[in-house]
Amino acid sequence: MTDPGPEIAQRMLALRAHFAHHPVYEQLEGQFERLLSNRRVEVDKGEVREARAIALIGASGSGKSTAIDRLLTKTSGLILPQEGQDHCDVVSLMVPSPATLKSVGRSILEALGRPLRRERTTDAIWELVRGFLKERKVLFLHLDEAQDIARHQTPKEMQSVINTLKSLMQSRSWPVGLILSGMPGLKDLLNYDPQLARRVFPLELPRLSPLGDIGEVRAVVGFYSAEVGIPWEPEATAADVAARLIHAADREFGLLIEMTIDGLEEALHSGASSLSVEHFAAAFSRRSGCIAGLNPFIADEYERIDVRKLLGREGEE
Ligand SMILES: Nc1ncnc2c1ncn2[C@@H]1O[C@H](COP(=O)(O)OP(=O)(O)OP(=O)(O)O)[C@@H](O)[C@H]1O
Ligand SMILES: [Mg+2]
Repeated sequence: MTDPGPEIAQRMLALRAHFAHHPVYEQLEGQFERLLSNRRVEVDKGEVREARAIALIGASGSGKSTAIDRLLTKTSGLILPQEGQDHCDVVSLMVPSPATLKSVGRSILEALGRPLRRERTTDAIWELVRGFLKERKVLFLHLDEAQDIARHQTPKEMQSVINTLKSLMQSRSWPVGLILSGMPGLKDLLNYDPQLARRVFPLELPRLSPLGDIGEVRAVVGFYSAEVGIPWEPEATAADVAARLIHAADREFGLLIEMTIDGLEEALHSGASSLSVEHFAAAFSRRSGCIAGLNPFIADEYERIDVRKLLGREGEE
């Protein structure tokens, strides 16, 4: 018999590449397209107006990075950084850790293809950042994990980060729009300064509701299981499995999709003809290393379980 592993892996790769649309993504897309066309017209007409920012906020596993990645790769006509190309519309990077004004500036220079060759002061680095953003005609700068910029900062440092971000948007010679994605701590940064807050369009990826979203979750699992040709059965327990899945995913949409795909992978490997709660349970224990009593697909009172905890053992609350 031939090993089914590579074939299953290929099917999983195709499933993981699928993007499930959701209302916040539509809002993100609409807002970005509006800001982008405004900026393009201003550049065409040679007008300088302040740029704006979009903030996408959500917990770990909500789907922030996936949504921005999709936005940047699917927006038609958007030029992303490429070897040998002078001009790019968007530069996207992850905020380095630890995040200081200096380290963020340095990472932006790297993303612009202009890494620093020698040590410079923070002011000099940001002077270079502004110069290269203009030279490469960058319209938007995306910072992922942007909440890290607000962490461990003294009030003075926090204000200088904010002033630097504002100065990018308010530049008289080349204003640059911002896309900030990050965990809920990003709200502290945005709310710290009213002048920053009023320039930002905030979007939040909501947590799933254990009751209200059962129908939607059933539809999502149904879609993925139909894609691999394994029906989701039995119908009578589907609502209970969906509720357990919402809890297991800590009510985060992205994690829920990840766990659905993991469940299907278990079903395919076990040669099952339908997707059942045992497959989700096996996938969860593989992912968390927990004992059965702390597995939300097995335990009776699963709502009490802290699903983010790895290697959970009984009696360790
Ligand atoms: N709309 C979507 N359609 C399909 N899969 C998704 C979607 N959104 C997220 N996912 C999946 O959910 C998982 C988590 O998503 P992602 O990495 O974007 O989350 P995040 O909010 O950036 O989390 P973190 O804060 O930990 O970086 C990934 O496996 C991703 O493929
Ligand atoms: Mg992310």
